[in-house]
Amino acid sequence: MGTSLERLIATTEELSTEILRAQLDTPSDIEAFRIRFIGQKRGLITQLFKQIPRLPKEDRRTAGQVLNALRKKAQATLDSAHQKSVSDPVNLSEIDLTLPGRKNQWTGSRHPITLALSRITDIFHRMGFTIAEGPEMEDDWHNFTALNFPEDHPARDMQDTLFIDEKSPDQPRIMMRTHTSPVQIRTMMAGEPPFRLIAPGRVYRNEAITYKSYCLFHQVEGLVVDEGITMADLKDTLYRFARAFFGEDVKLRYRSSFFPFTEPSAELDIWWNLPDHPDGGRWMEILGSGMVHPNVLEAVGLDPERYTGYAFGMGVERPAMLRYDIKDIRLFYENDVRFLAQF
Ligand code: PHE
Repeated sequence: MGTSLERLIATTEELSTEILRAQLDTPSDIEAFRIRFIGQKRGLITQLFKQIPRLPKEDRRTAGQVLNALRKKAQATLDSAHQKSVSDPVNLSEIDLTLPGRKNQWTGSRHPITLALSRITDIFHRMGFTIAEGPEMEDDWHNFTALNFPEDHPARDMQDTLFIDEKSPDQPRIMMRTHTSPVQIRTMMAGEPPFRLIAPGRVYRNEAITYKSYCLFHQVEGLVVDEGITMADLKDTLYRFARAFFGEDVKLRYRSSFFPFTEPSAELDIWWNLPDHPDGGRWMEILGSGMVHPNVLEAVGLDPERYTGYAFGMGVERPAMLRYDIKDIRLFYENDVRFLAQF
């Protein structure tokens, strides 16, 4: 059976009705429609165009017109469906409105060490202390000798030092500072009493790493030097600090100790509540302190007969662990966002 114009027109009318009724709601509806009607290879209208050469010559013009009109209609339907999907891309029927929202913006928070440091400096600021700083890399004289650590004395082993140079007989050694006490020396060398300062900063020790010690940590040094400063001033300042930082009901103990650069010396312990501990908790040392040793005052050119002073050095990590209930010091340095995001 040959191709006739009547048959072609009849098919065209059927397709025209189908195009009119097409429901093009989703991008895949639109694409299926395009392939069915005007797809390059098997599109229905494309196929019909291919039949034109087989029609009697006098019918070809009419067939061309009819098919062109049909193709236009299909194209117009496609275009308007496209338009609609672009201007109204959210198809509510396809979206589950009960799904939880997606959180793709993160707000940073301050590191717990930064938080603890700024709380500590705030408290001392209110008590009239200024802030001093010194280098993290020190020489032997500032870190040890001027602080009354005798040469080759076992006291130097109290703080396992990270040296950064080779040992040589005729050169003073360079090291990462093992405490913030060299800042006492640097500020006293650079000015005149009275001194009333704190020196926050990083210190380094070649220590075994455990839940409570790490190879680097933070200290806040304190130094007060003037005429007539006594140990009572020191104890008063430390107790005020402890109550401001840990709360009025903090349980503390002031215990005698030894440091080469203070005499007498004492350490301050804070009671750490630990429900799982057989004793319900344990004492935690948070700072060393004492009256500045006369040899230290002499090393920086001050007259120990005229001036007296006190000094203290506190860790930052341990008080932060107590305050924020952190059980392992290593958490501070692992940069695990799950930990950091809690502050
Ligand atoms: N520098 C001592 C330490 O690191 C602490 C300290 C500072 C003790 C000042 C007394 C006075 O352990």
